[in-house]
Amino acid sequence: MSDWSDGYVTSTEYTTHFYPFLSPASQNLTLLLKGVNPPDLSQNFAYCELGCGQGFSTALLAAANPKGSFVGVDFNPAHVAGANQLKAAAQIQNVAFLEKSFAELGSTDLPMFDYIALHGVWSWISRENREAIASFVYSRLKPGGIVYISYNAMPGWAPIGPLRQLFVESQRHKSEIDVSDVNEAIELAGKMRQLEAGYFKINPAAGANLDHLSKLSRNYLLHEYFNGEWQPFYFSDVAADLRAAKLGYACSSDVLEHIDQLCFGKEQQAMLATLKDGAARETIRDYFRNQRFRRDLFSRGARQLGNNERTEMLRKVRLAKVPVGSDAPAQVKFSSGRSLAHGRGLCRHSRTLERRNGTAWRVARLCRSKGGRFPGRVPIRHGLDGGRASDPDASFGGRQGAPAKHGEVQSRGSDEFVGPRGADSGFTGRGKRDRGAAG
Ligand SMILES: C[S@@+](CC[C@H](N)C(=O)[O-])C[C@H]1O[C@@H](n2cnc3c(N)ncnc32)[C@H](O)[C@@H]1O
Repeated sequence: MSDWSDGYVTSTEYTTHFYPFLSPASQNLTLLLKGVNPPDLSQNFAYCELGCGQGFSTALLAAANPKGSFVGVDFNPAHVAGANQLKAAAQIQNVAFLEKSFAELGSTDLPMFDYIALHGVWSWISRENREAIASFVYSRLKPGGIVYISYNAMPGWAPIGPLRQLFVESQRHKSEIDVSDVNEAIELAGKMRQLEAGYFKINPAAGANLDHLSKLSRNYLLHEYFNGEWQPFYFSDVAADLRAAKLGYACSSDVLEHIDQLCFGKEQQAMLATLKDGAARETIRDYFRNQRFRRDLFSRGARQLGNNERTEMLRKVRLAKVPVGSDAPAQVKFSSGRSLAHGRGLCRHSRTLERRNGTAWRVARLCRSKGGRFPGRVPIRHGLDGGRASDPDASFGGRQGAPAKHGEVQSRGSDEFVGPRGADSGFTGRGKRDRGAAG
């Protein structure tokens, strides 16, 4: 039997994290804000995560979304065994973990899905595996269904891509790489920097990245940098590959990236507005932001909503604030160089903005709602947002505030924020830029 790993790192298991962008409720809200009709989470729905790793995200989302049937797929038996153990310990009934490769999915009996998600997969697998995924999406995603896909992006990787190649070259003589080899590779690169290798001299970004990497988890680095396959993509190339699976680009899953006024300067916005082709415009936005990682939502023919319909749907979205840890960032920074304070001050500030500029008010509210790495709380809230949208009296684990009136912020203590139920309600969980973000 040929090597099942297909060049993917299997000597060490992947890290265990929850990624809020995988939440169907979070995706729905993001789509709604963009006016794209999302799948109906008040009805039964089916969700598949491809390359689910340890299955933590899939299991947690299943627990929080009793109306969903979840499937996690991964070819690493250690990952699937761990995921099944988690499922059994937590007694979660509505999730199944399958030990299958992407290539095997075509011959596997699976339902049609409303959501297919792949996080930290597309840039780290072969072209054949990407084609297998596209073909799976083509045959298993329902009309109106959503695909979440993240990948390393160009041009952000352009100056630092060679660093990854340097790591690989330094360990090429070994048949199998494990975490101790990661240290060796980082040390070698550090030494070359000290010896003033031309690459580091003309690429300050590479040295800065090396400093950053040395602080990250070795398991994460092993999967990120030492795979046989590794490729960053321009947005337009990914969009072209997915077009073949009948997918069209919906939006970034990060709502803050929707707001041109914060991401780009005035003249940059004007230049972007002159670009006629949507894929080219999105790709060129990445040049302005020097984008290094993308989290995209694609849809299979989802309907564009009219303003009134969108507003009505947004009114039904229920948000609940959860306590935030001390690691919450004090500021949200944008590629344009602007930053917004992230906390009580912003809430006060946002009231002023509201009176002057509706768009900025929306931004402020989005920034005020916090997310990121708050395992256990954010995800459950996401799930309940969707799972209980049809039940106005449902309590959010005892944390839900009374529904706010349209356009009103309820502030109940330093961390309390219940979003308005008006047309501009928004929540986004913001993870870190890297796919694993395993510090
Ligand atoms: C970086 S991990 C991401 C895990 C998970 N999505 C997360 O974000 O925590 C990528 C996963 O894809 C799986 N994988 C890679 N190639 C695969 C293939 N050809 N078929 C099935 N799974 C694959 C790996 O075993 C690994 O668990």
